[in-house]
Amino acid sequence: MVSSTNAQVVAGRLPLVVGNWKMNGTRVNCVELLAGLRAAGPFDAEISVCCPFPYLADVALSLQGSGIGWGAQDCSEHEPGAYTGEVAAVMLAEFGCRHVIVGHSERRVYHAESDIQVADKARMALSHGLTPIVCVGETRSEREAGSTEVVVKRQLSAVIHALGHCVSQIVVAYEPIWAIGTGLTATPHQAQAVHAVLRAQLSAASTRAGEMRLLYGGSVNAVNAQELFAQPDIDGALVGGASLKAADFSAICRVASHVALGSTGKSRT
Ligand code: PGA
Repeated sequence: MVSSTNAQVVAGRLPLVVGNWKMNGTRVNCVELLAGLRAAGPFDAEISVCCPFPYLADVALSLQGSGIGWGAQDCSEHEPGAYTGEVAAVMLAEFGCRHVIVGHSERRVYHAESDIQVADKARMALSHGLTPIVCVGETRSEREAGSTEVVVKRQLSAVIHALGHCVSQIVVAYEPIWAIGTGLTATPHQAQAVHAVLRAQLSAASTRAGEMRLLYGGSVNAVNAQELFAQPDIDGALVGGASLKAADFSAICRVASHVALGSTGKSRT
C-alpha cells in the first residue's frame, strides 16, 4: 500500500514502473512471471504491465486484486469499425486496462506511425478512460547531430496540440532509440536534461505539468534505476527486457518503492 504522507504523493507524482513485454512470452510463462511479481510485492510505487493483446484476459485474472495494473502496447486511433487487425481503445477498457503505450519507437519505425497518428491514439485512449503512455525519443544520428531536443519537442507538440490542457492526464516516456534493448543507457544527466525540456514544454500547455509522470526507458535495470530515479524530473521507467523476468522487474519496482517512501532523499519541486 502507498503511504499517504510521502513527498511524491503530496506532489502527485508517485513513481511509476511499467513493463513492456513487447512481442514476447507464452500464455503459460506470462502467468508464471506474474505469480513471481505478485509474490515479490506489494510495492509502494505504481506498477503496471503492458502485455500482448491475446494475453490480456490471463493477465487481468493474474493481477486482479494485487494493486498492479495492466495494459496494452498500442491501440487504434479509430473507434470500432472496419479496421482489420486493429484493436480499439474501448476494447482495452473492457479488459480493465489502466495503461496503453502509444508511439513506441518500434511502432513509429516499423509501422510508420506519424506524430499526428500517435497523438490521435493518445486522444482515443483518454476518451475511453485509459492512461496513454506516450513515447518520444531520438535516434543515435539525431543525437549526434544535436537535434535531440527538436525531435522530442516535435513529437510531444503533436500530442499537446491534440489534447490541449488534457495533456496533463497522460504519462510521457522518454526513450532514446539508441538505448532501447542495446544495453546502452542514457546517463542520468542526459536523461534528466531531456526530461527537463519535456516538462518545460508541458508546463506551457498545462498548469498541472508539475504533477505529471515522466518515465525514462532504454535498458533500465535495477542497478541503473537508482541513479535515474534520483533525478528530479524522472518519475519511473518503461522497462522492456528486464520486465520479462520477475526477479529483475521486481528489483526495479523496489527501487521505485524506495523513492516513493522518500528513503532516497530525493526531493521534488
Ligand atoms: P529495453 O526496452 O528496456 O529492453 O531497452 C525499453 C522499451 O522499449 O520500452
